[in-house]
Amino acid sequence: MSPNRTAKIISGKELSAEIRAELKVDVSAVAKAKRTPGLAVVLVGEDPASQVYVKSKRRICGELGINSYAHDLPVTCTERRLLNLIAKLNDDPKVHGILVQMPLPEHIDEQKVLNAVDPAKDVDGFHPLNVGKLLNGEEGFVPCTPAGCIEMLLRSGYDPAGKHVVVLGRSNIVGKPVAALLMQKAPGGNATVTVCHSRTKNLSAITKQADILIAAIGIPEFVKSRMVKEGVIVIDVGINRIPDKTRKSGSRLVGDVDFESVSKKAKAITPVPGGVGPMTIAMLMKNTVEAARRSN
Ligand code: GUN
Repeated sequence: MSPNRTAKIISGKELSAEIRAELKVDVSAVAKAKRTPGLAVVLVGEDPASQVYVKSKRRICGELGINSYAHDLPVTCTERRLLNLIAKLNDDPKVHGILVQMPLPEHIDEQKVLNAVDPAKDVDGFHPLNVGKLLNGEEGFVPCTPAGCIEMLLRSGYDPAGKHVVVLGRSNIVGKPVAALLMQKAPGGNATVTVCHSRTKNLSAITKQADILIAAIGIPEFVKSRMVKEGVIVIDVGINRIPDKTRKSGSRLVGDVDFESVSKKAKAITPVPGGVGPMTIAMLMKNTVEAARRSN
């Protein structure tokens, strides 16, 4: 290990600002040619993390000139009421994108809700039709966090083509779709992909082979420097709140990667916060503008 290498920081904050500036122009063009893009953001309950994410999504809509329609429902909201709201939004021509913030309360079947969203308004890319299109390499909507990961790599000059990318995590929201994008025969794809998860044996032996490592397992600071090779590119998708007595709030946010040690060995790494998070929102806005552009 070469001593004291310090990784280049891949700033999601900066890259997403760049994308938002581009999108502002697109929003005006679509507004002129058709109508102002509109995004309905549905929040059920009062999960503090979800409240923060939803607030950011609505704020960025305002910044870009996208109409944001807020629907905040109580935690006691029935599945039927939520499905009725989605049916109404599906029929509303002012709404081009529908986002239902996850997780939903336990009494509501998440998949049933995702299936109810019109695939043409499914800017989260969670509807089975869009999931299928992604695997087929057809045009649909791609989930925002995976799209953000790829965009970060490309915009910072780390094309995954021909590289060995190891994905940690197999969730429907990140692990599976990011793996699908990386193996696509298309820009941002053409990688050799290995997906690891909680049942993977000899995990370190695999993660050490990664040219690019994408961590999305939801365990704070799980990836240690001994698990990666010198010069790896690291995309940290994790957002975990851990106790920290030195902070006034009593806690701080960390990723799935032990930034302190891994950044000494990596060639480039995304920080938490200010990494993948802002990219996810930028990709959501991009999908919303695209949905408006495609609408009749
Ligand atoms: N919860 C965590 N990530 C996401 C996301 O990308 N979209 C939605 N709707 N909910 C989430």
